Amino acid sequence: MSRSPSIPDRPHRDIDPDLPDDERLEALRGHYTDLVDVNEQLSEQLEEADERRQDLHDRVDRVERENETLKSSSLYIATIEDVLDNDEVIVKQHGNNQEVLTDVSSRVVEKVDAGDRVAVNDSFAIQTVLDAETDARAQSMEITEKPEVSYADIGGIDEQVREVREAVEQPLAEPELFDEVGIEPPSGVLLHGPPGTGKTMLAKAVANETDATFIKMAGSELVRKFIGEGSRLVRDLFEMAREREPAIIFIDEIDAIATTRSESKTSGDAEVQRTMMQLLSEMDGFEARGEIRIIAATNRFDMLDRAILRPGRFDRLIEVPEPDQEGREQILQIHTRGMNVDDEVEFADLAEDTDGYSGAEIESLATEAGMFAIRNDRDVVIHQDFVEALEKIEKDDSSQVVPSANYFFN
Ligand SMILES: Nc1ncnc2c1ncn2[C@@H]1O[C@H](COP(=O)(O)OP(=O)(O)OP(=O)(O)O)[C@@H](O)[C@H]1O
Ligand SMILES: [Mg+2]
Repeated sequence: MSRSPSIPDRPHRDIDPDLPDDERLEALRGHYTDLVDVNEQLSEQLEEADERRQDLHDRVDRVERENETLKSSSLYIATIEDVLDNDEVIVKQHGNNQEVLTDVSSRVVEKVDAGDRVAVNDSFAIQTVLDAETDARAQSMEITEKPEVSYADIGGIDEQVREVREAVEQPLAEPELFDEVGIEPPSGVLLHGPPGTGKTMLAKAVANETDATFIKMAGSELVRKFIGEGSRLVRDLFEMAREREPAIIFIDEIDAIATTRSESKTSGDAEVQRTMMQLLSEMDGFEARGEIRIIAATNRFDMLDRAILRPGRFDRLIEVPEPDQEGREQILQIHTRGMNVDDEVEFADLAEDTDGYSGAEIESLATEAGMFAIRNDRDVVIHQDFVEALEKIEKDDSSQVVPSANYFFN
């Protein structure tokens, strides 16, 4: 590296004020020429210095880039747990869940918040803040507000409710029970049965009644909205569940992704299959899955790829059937709880007359009966209203206008 050149001395000239004018002028001219000379030298030096500065700048840039690439080879993904005010953050590395306290530059501190995903190096220095895009999408599926459905709102499927609670809630709430007995709780629960029988409702009730993080994803949504990214989304989803365990992942309408793999070979199907393969491999990663339970629901059990039913995947099948007479009576009672119903209404009779009705259809029967009361200028719903509602629904049904009342509820 060259040393800084020496700066020329400032020109100095003593001019005797008593000199005759012409001599003084001569002296001043000489001084002026000196000044111009020195000025020229300084300008040159300045130019050189500028050039050198530019060179050094380029070098710093280059070294910085090199340093950056050196540092950025093999980074770990971590999540910011907390940002402390003295430019320190707590990060939790994915996979091994190791938590560390690390210093960060104030430049980085401004960019991060708790919950952000970051890439860290071996010494846990934050290298980059990851794009929140995929995260945000997966996160949008987290249910933070409790759905307003409780077990008490579900009629006629007590046995199924019990089974779901046993398979999903209990392992999360009391894992030691399973440890003591020495069994693995089921990893996935699959609810299947005809439309409108309360499958989605049951999952929502679980979300409501448990403290675990509840993440909901509809299979159809996945296939439609995230074309080409289904498998990534599944990955993100499980990752998010791992970060927030205990967690419950609910995949509604799973038939949309988990349909039999053989048939056609269009690109859409290939995508569905990739999503499905990702789902299966996530479910197989049992060890890493930890305190995560999966609930899926479908009304097209026949369409499901049997691969998802293998042990370690959805190994607990729960059929949610159409309600029997007693169930129908319970459902009627549930859906008329908030209605002004006359005492003489015979729920048992109505339950008998609604053979083959699903919960959703019974719900619409109650609403329809209310409509008849209004039409007849009453504020009390009487038995006859239910009877007329029933007739109307049967008539609509036979003319195939409404194939299933349930379609309006989803
Ligand atoms: N067992 C039930 N008890 C009380 N209400 C019910 C029951 N089953 C269905 N319902 C009513 O029907 C509506 C639709 O039910 P839900 O969405 O749970 O059906 P589903 O089984 O998920 O149907 P699908 O297979 O079409 O998705 C519920 O919001 C609820 O009002
Ligand atoms: Mg449903």
